[in-house]
Amino acid sequence: MSTDAFSTLSHEDREFAPSAEFAAQANVTAGAYDAAAQDRLAFWAEQAARLSWQTPFTEVLDWSDAPFAKWFIGGKLNVAYNCVDRHVESGFGDQVAIRFEGELGDRRDITYAQLQDEVSQAANALTELGIVAGDRVAIYLPLIPEAVVAMLACARVGAPHSVVFAGFAAAALESRINDAEAKLVITADGQHRRGAILPLKPAVDGAVVNTPTVANVLVVKRTGIDVEWVEGRDLWWHDVVDRQSTTHAPEAFDSEHPLFILYTSGTTGTPKGILHTTGGYLTQVAYTHHAVFDLKPDTDVYWCTADIGWITGHSYVVYGPLANRVTQVIYEGTPDTPTQDRWWDIVERHRVTILYTAPTAIRTFMKWGDHLPQGKDLSSLRLLGSVGEPINPEAWMWYREVIGGNRCPIVDTWWQTETGAIMIAPLPGVTACKPGSAMRALPGISADVVDDHAVPVNHGTGGYLILTEPWPAMLRGIWRDPQRYVDGYWKHFEDVYFAGDGAKLDDDGAIWLLGRVDDVMNVSGHRISTTEVESALVSHPKVAEAAVVGATDATTGQGIVAFVILRMDAVDDHEGRSSVVRELRDHVAHEIGPIAKPRQILVVAELPKTRSGKIMRRLLRDVAEQRDVGDATTLADPAVMSLIAAGLAANPSED
Ligand code: WT7
Repeated sequence: MSTDAFSTLSHEDREFAPSAEFAAQANVTAGAYDAAAQDRLAFWAEQAARLSWQTPFTEVLDWSDAPFAKWFIGGKLNVAYNCVDRHVESGFGDQVAIRFEGELGDRRDITYAQLQDEVSQAANALTELGIVAGDRVAIYLPLIPEAVVAMLACARVGAPHSVVFAGFAAAALESRINDAEAKLVITADGQHRRGAILPLKPAVDGAVVNTPTVANVLVVKRTGIDVEWVEGRDLWWHDVVDRQSTTHAPEAFDSEHPLFILYTSGTTGTPKGILHTTGGYLTQVAYTHHAVFDLKPDTDVYWCTADIGWITGHSYVVYGPLANRVTQVIYEGTPDTPTQDRWWDIVERHRVTILYTAPTAIRTFMKWGDHLPQGKDLSSLRLLGSVGEPINPEAWMWYREVIGGNRCPIVDTWWQTETGAIMIAPLPGVTACKPGSAMRALPGISADVVDDHAVPVNHGTGGYLILTEPWPAMLRGIWRDPQRYVDGYWKHFEDVYFAGDGAKLDDDGAIWLLGRVDDVMNVSGHRISTTEVESALVSHPKVAEAAVVGATDATTGQGIVAFVILRMDAVDDHEGRSSVVRELRDHVAHEIGPIAKPRQILVVAELPKTRSGKIMRRLLRDVAEQRDVGDATTLADPAVMSLIAAGLAANPSED
């Protein structure tokens, strides 16, 4: 762990209180904090009543086997029923659930009644393919309605899904399928991105030759491009799903029945399968979506720009919003297709009222220019959200002024794949927000900032963010690796959850997130481990050794910078070197996916190591961020750093 970040604290002192008008209509008032503080478990039991339980629970929390939690014991419910059918039963079948917009401009409105039909058909198809409760299904799809339908169909039959972001490469998909032992993969022929068609099926074909558990591949025809076909294994979605009955009786599952596995990067080379279950997860995503986004199901048009391949897409595109009977936009493509005002065009045309996105996107739009959002009518917006990484005050202010017209509260929401749902965020009708701060733990959530000895820090001081009480949507473990769960989260500070983030309390006790303090990078709000990229690099025959660091990047938050030592027999004249660098970047993209491509690869002769042989990443970060190299006295060979710094000048950025 490193506390480097604590020395560079800065913050904005301005505060923006909710308008009287917003406060008066807000879903949640300040009383929620008191209610939860008085009786946390009773508070969560009350929130669980937002859902339809087929069998009521008899106990709220069983923490006797800590850190393995059980919430809402004895309760039974069906997640898909809660997200779809019950809204139809209460007379909202004609309400549009999803307003889909493809990158090409194709649109599809799907009402709750239609969604119920489609999810039922897909659930019947899963059953026909032999999927039963407990079987794992891998989903490798673009952001199209079938992705939402596939997830809900899995939930409906009790088959935990493992959604793999469609930007991951075949090798990454393969290891995730194998770890989860998935029986079925649901994919598409391809996707529309940045004006082009990106094939998806080839990655699946490449992966499933090495995944013995996969019996079938179900393929959505999205683009119409040619695909390879393995008879008997591959099936078209339209052939199998469309002919199914639109009736399907949802079975209620235990509150602790696994709902999904989602892989995320840790500090080692192997991604962790974060396991989430049913009742607690759905309770907290529904509550937080209601409280933090202030959703009014009858009037709001909600848009969360996340892909379903990440936890934000699970919790705030699929489960939370649909449980709350949202009307939401989903958009398949990139923000600059066909022009850089595509998002603002979507907001204008759909009259979007709530927008939830990431700081990296906001900073990109700042760069593209104010005239783009200003050229569209954004007056429908009433609330803005941010997630994925710390939002710098400048971006926060721009978001407020240029996108929110100075009238929308901004909720900066801190949480993780592991927490399942939002943990730290303002309540938009209650909290006066400071630009760049996630403010305070939500009602029912207990967070603190502590020093190295787990002692809470004073106001005005930095430290480590911990969560001090179990919460309903918490991960239930790491798939097939309970020890890694215990060691990774509950051992840094005895018996409390350590999130891996640094944080600071300001003079008023507001929480400012300072980024990761471990070897996990955050690139455009996506978590990538340094070790994973290092493993990909050293798997290339020309690489002898590699060290990877996340360096501050004005747009993406952090950028990946790699230092590599080439094998003696690899080319080393200057021209040869730049082609090796290109080759290595492509190799990482091929092994993990384009998101893991290093921004910069520096070919070096040595790496800075301690006498015990540990790579000193802090020094490499200094070099990558072009700072003076700090204290290097523990280096085995102090001359290494000047060599590397000299090499940096000769190795311009690759982008
Ligand atoms: C890590 C979790 C939560 C969904 C998206 C990312 C960072 C997340 C914030 C925020 C500062 C944030 C943390 C966290 N993070 N939200 N509002 N302010 N940092 O999920 O991939 O599981 O990554 O993202 O470092 O630990 P994830």
